[in-house]
Amino acid sequence: MTRRCVCPGSYDPVTLGHLDVIRRAASLFDEVVVAILHNPGKQGTFGVAERVRLLQESVPPELPVRVQDFGAQLLVDICRDVGAQAIVKGLRGGTDFTYELPMALMNRHLSGIETVFVPGDPALGHVSSSLVKEVSRYGGDVTDLVTPPVLRALRSL
Ligand code: PNS
Repeated sequence: MTRRCVCPGSYDPVTLGHLDVIRRAASLFDEVVVAILHNPGKQGTFGVAERVRLLQESVPPELPVRVQDFGAQLLVDICRDVGAQAIVKGLRGGTDFTYELPMALMNRHLSGIETVFVPGDPALGHVSSSLVKEVSRYGGDVTDLVTPPVLRALRSL
């Protein structure tokens, strides 16, 4: 049986923090489905097609990773449809845990699926899509926090 997990998120845009979590997920599972979901609470900066492209150009090709846009649907439905046994999420610290725990419990309540939390690289603990966008917008240097395709996309905003 293929052990498959889903790494869900807005990925608006993907950062080195996301890629760290995806790499850790790929070390635990045979296949990782990176699921781009539309969070109604967040106004998107990049279009979904561009988020997919930036992920595809940023994920190391040797990793067993599939990138897919799933639009606005329940994560548990996506997990069922792709045959995933778990959701993998990265934690930068306690604030992330406070945000993620209710979702993990709700997803388990809905379908029984478990969420595996992986501690992210502490060197990337300050990295988020929103901060990277803000710093870049005002001319700050985010070269060490995103891949070259994402850097180009940020500079063209
Ligand atoms: O990168 P984000 O914005 O923190 O990701 C949040 C996301 C998209 C993973 C979360 O909002 C989500 O799972 N949305 C899918 C809809 C759903 O299943 N909602 C109930 C979660 S308990």
